[in-house]
Amino acid sequence: MAIIAAIIAAFVYAASDKRQPVSAQDFVNLQQGDVIQQGFRRAHANGFCVSGEFIASGALAEYSSATVFQTGRHPFIGRFSVAGNNPTAPDVKAPVRSLALTLLPDSAAQWRTAMNTPPVLPVGTPEKFYQQLQAIKNNTIAEFFAAHPESAAFLQWRASYQPTQSYATEQYHSINAFYLINNAGQQQAVRWAAVPSAASETLSSDSQHDSQQEPAVTDSLQQELFTRLAQGPVTFDLVFTLATANDNASDATVLWPATNPQRIAGQLVITAANEQKGHQCDALNFDPLVLPAGIQPSEDPILRARAAAYAESHRRRAREVLLESLTGNNSAKGAGDE
Ligand code: HEM
Repeated sequence: MAIIAAIIAAFVYAASDKRQPVSAQDFVNLQQGDVIQQGFRRAHANGFCVSGEFIASGALAEYSSATVFQTGRHPFIGRFSVAGNNPTAPDVKAPVRSLALTLLPDSAAQWRTAMNTPPVLPVGTPEKFYQQLQAIKNNTIAEFFAAHPESAAFLQWRASYQPTQSYATEQYHSINAFYLINNAGQQQAVRWAAVPSAASETLSSDSQHDSQQEPAVTDSLQQELFTRLAQGPVTFDLVFTLATANDNASDATVLWPATNPQRIAGQLVITAANEQKGHQCDALNFDPLVLPAGIQPSEDPILRARAAAYAESHRRRAREVLLESLTGNNSAKGAGDE
């Protein structure tokens, strides 16, 4: 009898085994929420397109053979966004702001990166990241963090972070590490950040948290950036931090020491901005594994999960956009003509 009970228990355990790797579909099903926003990204839905030039300093040429790091001017298409699946949620209230870039978009040497305001992640594996998203949904995030001591660096950052009044004055981080590969085949682990040139003013706490008062304008951050750009370009330094022998490139929960060497790869100069619908960034998937020769992914398992989830989100929204355009064409011709 005991043996039968053990076998049944083993089956029940196997059926509910949460050690199974979490799939891209699992992520996107959870991230898109219960109300699907047809044709929009399943995460970072609220955003807009930017474009400009990256003026490479050449300071990374000794570490990487990538064209984008050789001295010169390289075009990019980018996208500012905030975390979340609702394209019309007030951008100023979102806890995370982002900058995604596709550098050298018309070339085989293109490089895509999607960066967020926190410098570290709370957890280091896709499975735990999935559980974190579940905890946010279930309002159990405090318990989740308490059970994950590796979230300490993230929580420390969050406690000290002051949102600013502009996308132009935030600092955006690669978070995950990558390897630069030079012409001799040597590799150097790095993380990078877009560091703003503009001086920042922090938001008043009213504009961020005033649910009692007037609702925030949906896109006040977006409007601010459009207004700012009308006065002249918005610029960031692209600053690379080099890992030392003590740093682990696979663990995005740990900050690297501030004493690590840094190199300024160049300056991002944003000169134009447009609504996302109808403009180039909308159809792009800022997959962090689209890398040119001279940059390789680290072993960080989050990177693979990101690439798969972005592809799944992109597939869903691209299909919806296509179907919508076909339906539009059909109705333009007149339904039932055939
Ligand atoms: C396992 C962890 C993660 C998952 C599952 C995930 C999932 C997603 C998904 C599904 C999208 C929408 C993609 C699209 O439709 O084009 C997205 C967008 C984005 N993610 Fe993540 N993400 C993860 C981690 C991260 C990290 C660590 C960062 C920052 C370093 C990040 C930054 C971004 C940004 C900036 C966007 C918007 C890109 C754009 O403008 O198109 N994500 N993410």
